[in-house]
Amino acid sequence: MTNQSQDKFSEWKKALVELLASNQVTVAGHRYTRPAPSTYEHQWLWDSCFHAIAYRWIDPEMAWSELLSVTSHQVKEGADAGMIPHMVYWGGGGQELWLHADRSTITQPPLIGVAAWLVHTIAPDRSKLAVLYPLLTAFHNWFDRRRDPDRDHLVCLIHPWEAGSDSSPRWDRAMKLPERFPPSAGTAARKSLVGVLNKYGHDPLALAESGYFCVETIDFNAIRAADLEALANIAAELGLPGDSSGWLEQAKEVQHAVQAKLMQPAPHDLEGLEEIPITVDSASHFIALFGGCATLEQAGKMVQRLQQPDYWTAYPVPTSPISSPSFAPQEYWRGNTWIPYNWLIYNGLLRYGYPTLASELAAKTSDLVCRAGFREYFHPITGEGLGAGAQSWTGLLIDMIAQEFN
Ligand code: GLC
Repeated sequence: MTNQSQDKFSEWKKALVELLASNQVTVAGHRYTRPAPSTYEHQWLWDSCFHAIAYRWIDPEMAWSELLSVTSHQVKEGADAGMIPHMVYWGGGGQELWLHADRSTITQPPLIGVAAWLVHTIAPDRSKLAVLYPLLTAFHNWFDRRRDPDRDHLVCLIHPWEAGSDSSPRWDRAMKLPERFPPSAGTAARKSLVGVLNKYGHDPLALAESGYFCVETIDFNAIRAADLEALANIAAELGLPGDSSGWLEQAKEVQHAVQAKLMQPAPHDLEGLEEIPITVDSASHFIALFGGCATLEQAGKMVQRLQQPDYWTAYPVPTSPISSPSFAPQEYWRGNTWIPYNWLIYNGLLRYGYPTLASELAAKTSDLVCRAGFREYFHPITGEGLGAGAQSWTGLLIDMIAQEFN
């Protein structure tokens, strides 16, 4: 970082502290941070994990609060016992869509073990880990029990919202969308799928048998592998070596399954019971590195792909390459740059021994965010800020920069 960009970063950090404080909410004895006050006022699962990762450098107490509040609506009974919902509606309002006033009935990428462990490494607190541990155990046991009907160690998603990348072109075929469609048609399809989930009791097998959305993806499973590894660290820290080796074993099973089924001959996701490859090119594939889900050879090929000009743009990493037919940088998740994806890819590059490229990504991300502000996502070529304003997860940049200086 040059002196000038260091100055810019310190200014940005001050603004971040203010932004996060103003997005915080205290309700019913819980504290959480709204993803973006005017657009996303409820609590989202992976957002809260990202917030905690940013807070560990600014306000570790708030980091723990964020992780505890997001687990407060974990499902306690029924077929989905153990699931942590992707949304908590603290002020109500979920009834019409989810038939539950206070929560959704699907999940989001399981990063909460990763987040807890990262917070603990900066602000150690075994008592908080001890509270979270049984909840995270139940969460991962739920994935295993309910979301892996074909027992291949890869969990399936039953709604695009579960991936976090709601309207990625990866889902178009499984969502039965035509080749060209307005964004409103995508939104309507996602909303109407929730009615179908309710009708089928959220059972992946029943949904898949009837031809509804059921996909196994690289990114979600890689994030899960990283979370299982984090659970192994947490168990060891809590003096549970037997549990710890069990979680590591499970992480390895997921890593091998991704390598064997989703990474060759080229990275792809799988759709439905017939496991039809989804070959749409997507930055989500790079997330394999985050979860240790690529062989060294597979990783090498991915890193080469990442550096090609249709991914390595002025402000990388677009979620779809800018050369792809579905590239639409103004439409969310269809080729824009998202800070959470950059954070996942950055850490994946470090994991596989590409620190120079990781540093370049951190510098480009810093340049982008300091220039365009706290936006939900960005144009990968012009750097224009897009989507919601005052988006809390932009704070992940602080974690990338802190790692750069450590
Ligand atoms: C959008 C994003 C999703 C995120 C939510 C709250 O729906 O697609 O990933 O969790 O907003 O920020």
